[in-house]
Amino acid sequence: MEQCVIEKWTDKGHGRAFHEGRVIDIKGAFLAETVQVEVKKGKRGVKKGILQSIKIPSLERIPPKCSHSQICGGCNLHGLSYSSQVALKQKNVEKLFFTHKVEPILEAQDPFYYRNKMEFSFSQDKEKRKYLGLVEEDSRGKVFSQNSCALCPEWMISTLKAVFDHWCTTELDAYYLHTNTGSLRTLTCRAGVNTGERMVILGLSGNPLYALSYEELKGFQQAITDANKCCEDISIFVVLTHVEKGTPTYTSEIHLSGKDHYKEILCEKTFLVSPQSFFQPNPKQAQLLYETAFSLLKPNSADRVLDLYCGVGSIGICLKDRVDRVLGIELNRYAVCDAKRNIAINLMENIEVIVGDVKDVLVQHKDAPFDSIILDPPRAGLDEQVIQTLHQMQAKKILYISCNPKSLAKDLQLIENCGYKVECLQPVDQFPQTLHLEMIALFTLKNL
Ligand SMILES: C[S@@+](CC[C@H](N)C(=O)[O-])C[C@H]1O[C@@H](n2cnc3c(N)ncnc32)[C@H](O)[C@@H]1O
Repeated sequence: MEQCVIEKWTDKGHGRAFHEGRVIDIKGAFLAETVQVEVKKGKRGVKKGILQSIKIPSLERIPPKCSHSQICGGCNLHGLSYSSQVALKQKNVEKLFFTHKVEPILEAQDPFYYRNKMEFSFSQDKEKRKYLGLVEEDSRGKVFSQNSCALCPEWMISTLKAVFDHWCTTELDAYYLHTNTGSLRTLTCRAGVNTGERMVILGLSGNPLYALSYEELKGFQQAITDANKCCEDISIFVVLTHVEKGTPTYTSEIHLSGKDHYKEILCEKTFLVSPQSFFQPNPKQAQLLYETAFSLLKPNSADRVLDLYCGVGSIGICLKDRVDRVLGIELNRYAVCDAKRNIAINLMENIEVIVGDVKDVLVQHKDAPFDSIILDPPRAGLDEQVIQTLHQMQAKKILYISCNPKSLAKDLQLIENCGYKVECLQPVDQFPQTLHLEMIALFTLKNL
């Protein structure tokens, strides 16, 4: 056991100590704290410290709301006051965009229990002990058995426990990727936070050798239903993932019970979301994100807008009343089906969604006159081909919503090289207790 003082934050939100010529990173240790750690091997000359006790705590330390905060890979800033979390994130993002002005982070109203989706993993160790929960930090996929969480509503944890208890009465094995063996992959819980609707998805192997029998499926369905007695008509799905060497992995679905979607209300619009479609994980903050983005964009009632990476159509549908027409592009077929239903139930006209990869579909619309282009790509950011097409299109405004400030920093320079200037960089905290941050960037064309 060694005692050291935390002198720095790492990029992962761990505390870093420089002790007797070694660099030690410690999850759960905060700046200026004196801590006792067990020092383990680490990567690239940096040792890993396992926090044993806190001798002098930070004044910003608050009691944790979950019993796994020392090991869980879900939230690294848990235990730090929310104002200090925000200050740390602000500093990080200002460092990343050091050549631009960054607005103060728009904070979350509810820093706990905000997530509408959790994906837990089934796992077994060599002794065949069973685990269901999130993955341990820096562990190469080691799952721990979870019994609390400060990010999701309580029903998701009680459903996890019910499914775990049921699993323990069966002979079924967790799926093991390296050998494509075993049956049980994931348990996903989703919810409409403004409607109370619930959806549970059991992720199974599509390998027919490990298929569940009808009775085995019914057993899991019953465990989920019993854990959610207060929720009438809970939607339960199985998603099978088919993995075969030499062929692309694909999924298929079995609808076990309840509705084929859950419903969410955002910006007074209704959204139906099916099991494999993306929806913003913190709906309260998503509403703030969209409203802030629209007030920066200052749309005109005659505007034609492109909504790229549009998911279930949420940005376009929330914006549509303020513009003339919207065209969305989205890769996921399930999300496109949802988007079409959502356009219909919100009684929208002049809004269309096309299925396809943005890099292929956008180029087909490069000569169409769009006033604004909204981009909300996945974490990796924009493809080179997309940047090239944006360059050719020369829309007056580009509004980029990013869930990964590092990708945005890379794309920002490329968009500037296409003749745009950055008007505003606005961070919005959608993910309290973690280092993640959502960013809005507004670009305008320089030579109009
Ligand atoms: C961060 S989500 C944004 C969804 C939506 N804008 C919203 O606010 O809910 C990114 C979306 O991009 C989609 N996507 C990922 N890669 C894509 C690609 N190459 N072309 C089109 N859509 C893609 C994903 O399926 C997902 O729905």
